[in-house]
Amino acid sequence: MQQMINAIVNTPLASDTFFREYTSSNAILKYARASAGFGISYLLDHDYKSVYLEALNRLPQQIRQNGIRILEFGCGCGMNLLHLVSVLGRHGIRVEHAIGTDFSPVLIDAAKREAARYLADEDRRKVQFCVARNETLIDELTATTGVPEADLVNSFQFVIGVNTIRYCHRANTEAECARDIWRLLMPGGVCVVIDMNDRFPAFRSALKDKLRGNKRPQRECYLPSLEEYTAPFTRAGFQVLRTGRFCWIPHSAGRFLTGICRTFSPVLTNLGRSRAMRSLVIAQKPSV
Ligand SMILES: C[S@@+](CC[C@H](N)C(=O)[O-])C[C@H]1O[C@@H](n2cnc3c(N)ncnc32)[C@H](O)[C@@H]1O
Repeated sequence: MQQMINAIVNTPLASDTFFREYTSSNAILKYARASAGFGISYLLDHDYKSVYLEALNRLPQQIRQNGIRILEFGCGCGMNLLHLVSVLGRHGIRVEHAIGTDFSPVLIDAAKREAARYLADEDRRKVQFCVARNETLIDELTATTGVPEADLVNSFQFVIGVNTIRYCHRANTEAECARDIWRLLMPGGVCVVIDMNDRFPAFRSALKDKLRGNKRPQRECYLPSLEEYTAPFTRAGFQVLRTGRFCWIPHSAGRFLTGICRTFSPVLTNLGRSRAMRSLVIAQKPSV
């Protein structure tokens, strides 16, 4: 394990402090379901689930019934993927196989433990977590799973990435990420990207950056605009089904704050949807 961490830390992309942050034990607390906060549990079961179901409804019913293959890139401890695998059956969608990837071996190990803790045996057998970077998904998935590239491409029906693609934007590698997602999806497959909205006025990292007196955001705090989140998918050839901003509940909110934010969400949406916390892109690879 240490060898693997060293190998990744020594790549130019990963020499940043944020990679070190994501290989620390604190990261596990932040991104594991039990310790991440009530807010994210609520979102997984409400706002995020609605978005995933909306996107999954774009797949033909036959495929949803026969079984879909899901990939979550930048999955951290796998909260989104594990939750999806555990609930989709109730919505008439069979999961055949699900893979979560992240460049942090520490988080991938934690995701494997989370799968053992949260999933029933039958669901657990369908789920796999492997180390892979968002910008080299196919090469690294081939290397870590041993599945030939030819069998990986066109093999997924659903790809999600939550709060992770902004790092590609910061490293100028978003085009590589979108290109690999395109290749991994079968024609008609759908991708959902959820990430921080640059127009939300009160993210802690952005506020800290301003307090330090930085007029322009530092590279490690840069948040892409909705148009920037969308552009690599359009360029890769996706048909963009929906873009927008949504969600007024912080991941880390406790039960009380989640209740307040939930109550005020409709009002806040009416007053200024563009200021919501998350940006959303739903894109589909055209059927041939
Ligand atoms: C804010 S966390 C979100 C984790 C998870 N998606 C969730 O919603 O709980 C960002 C994740 O992206 C991962 N990450 C950042 N840059 C990455 C890259 N270039 N390749 C793969 N994973 C990356 C981090 O290791 C971390 O797990």
